[in-house]
Amino acid sequence: MTRFDPSGPLRGSLRPPSDKSISHRAALIAAMGEGETEIWAYLDAADTRSTLAAVEALGAEVEMGPPPNASDRNWGLAGHIRGVGLRNARPAAIDVGNAGTLLRLLPGWLAGQEDGRWTLDGDESIRRRPVDRIAVPLRRMGANLHAREDRLPPLEIEGTTLHGASYEMPIASAQVKSCLLFAGLLAGGETRVVEPLPSRDHTERMLAAAGAPIERVGGAVVVRPVERLEPGPITVPADISSAAFFIVAALLVEGSEVVLEQVGVNPTRTGLLTILERMGAALEREVDGISGGEQTASLRIRPAPLQATEVGGAEIPLAIDELPLVALAACFAEGTTTIRDAEELRRKESDRIETVTAALRALGGEVEPTEDGMVIEGTGGLRGGTIDSHGDHRIAMLGAVAGLASREGVEVQGMDAAAVSYPGFEADLASLLGS
Ligand code: S3P
Repeated sequence: MTRFDPSGPLRGSLRPPSDKSISHRAALIAAMGEGETEIWAYLDAADTRSTLAAVEALGAEVEMGPPPNASDRNWGLAGHIRGVGLRNARPAAIDVGNAGTLLRLLPGWLAGQEDGRWTLDGDESIRRRPVDRIAVPLRRMGANLHAREDRLPPLEIEGTTLHGASYEMPIASAQVKSCLLFAGLLAGGETRVVEPLPSRDHTERMLAAAGAPIERVGGAVVVRPVERLEPGPITVPADISSAAFFIVAALLVEGSEVVLEQVGVNPTRTGLLTILERMGAALEREVDGISGGEQTASLRIRPAPLQATEVGGAEIPLAIDELPLVALAACFAEGTTTIRDAEELRRKESDRIETVTAALRALGGEVEPTEDGMVIEGTGGLRGGTIDSHGDHRIAMLGAVAGLASREGVEVQGMDAAAVSYPGFEADLASLLGS
């Protein structure tokens, strides 16, 4: 049990840890490349360590360690990966740990490599994460895959020759899109992926920078096969999904003023900022550069009275991992907030419609789960109590933020889950609290 008591203001500035989505892609695309790719500020967390171990098992050489001047623990790992090339991955049994992104992206690269066999498996939570969403379209491209009950890990892949296809995704998923774009690099002809709504586009940006023939045509992304990838050096920006916990904490705890630096503000990731601003949040954004082909900014946050809002449609993929925090903020807002069109939340590291509802109710919140979201009654605050993370990193950190802003404090069972994306979370929180 870890206790988070009602706190004084959060004050100060920090660079949150590096982006998880971009780090996974940097390691995978470097492994697909020829020669050495330099990577700076690679996220040093459980999920992205799984990706480094995976590419090493596939034959890439990984030389990544603490950066030369690591004054700040959030700068992660730096070094290089020597790729195996697009068509030369070694057969291997891959343990993806808790990393759903690795589970969905990697098969796209492997499926089109002739003569190879691979197995992907992971922890207890991974074994509940569906893979039919990638298996169905990959099979249309000719892939040879076998999943437990045809939809769950372990996933076995037998490499074969693929042909390009046009696929309309039933749900907006950057993981499925990225998987098919990787497969398209090795398939004959053109591969076209149509998204119902825009989702994060880090893969498209990084593949284009590595020389892949990839373009957006209206609502579709089109990729053609390529002989080799040549990624340039990549510096990973800070993760807006990790910054999000301090953004909401600073918004809810009286007297706070926090600056979060070098945060990736790719418009396909900033749904939380738009939602909070609509609720009345005072956020200041100052563009501070470009990192890994992605714009970064400093975000300054101070508390503000919040109004309820409606969240749904195109906003959902842009804020998918931050919706638990929207629900938390909604408990403190005036009025009734509705989140809809977010059934995907049921298929994350936990069923987040259930785990967020259970957590907020345990703290005195008035939350009703629906098939595809939640209805949250703003009650001006939360009492506090005990919550279970259910092994989900984002639920653990949500509990911590709720504790600071609550009247009586929050005990979190399973706080160690935070290490999946943010091992230094408690230390960074302590530094902003001046303790
Ligand atoms: C991710 C995409 C999202 C997100 C996940 C990371 C990615 O999943 O929830 O945490 O890196 O592509 P979906 O796009 O599959 O919903």
